[in-house]
Amino acid sequence: MQPLLLRIVISEGEMMTEWVKVCSKSELPDDSGVGALVHGHQIALFYQAELDRVFAIDNHDPVMDANVICHGIIGDLKGQWVVASPLLKQHYNLETGQCLEKSELRLRVWPVRVCQDQIEVQWAGA
Ligand code: FES
Repeated sequence: MQPLLLRIVISEGEMMTEWVKVCSKSELPDDSGVGALVHGHQIALFYQAELDRVFAIDNHDPVMDANVICHGIIGDLKGQWVVASPLLKQHYNLETGQCLEKSELRLRVWPVRVCQDQIEVQWAGA
């Protein structure tokens, strides 16, 4: 299991939408995930090296009721970038959050960008 990176971001105000710096890009391991705490909300960040792309998705696994999605394996499944839950192996689309096996399950995905080597997540409330 990868170490869980917990970065506590102190709130400076009650904006509805804001870009929140989470960590530097170099802190993200290739093709793997870390957990980040943004305004008390757990978000899993994944860096896909081949695409040079960062995905941000809720870290909470609704099936196991545990914050473990950041420990999941990412990969291309039938043309979709997905993360597999490390516990029961449901697959979630990293762009939409949709669970491929259970249509009623969808994780929240977060807009994410790289700004001067800093990973920023667009926070819009929990
Ligand atoms: S309000 Fe700016 S980091 Fe939270």
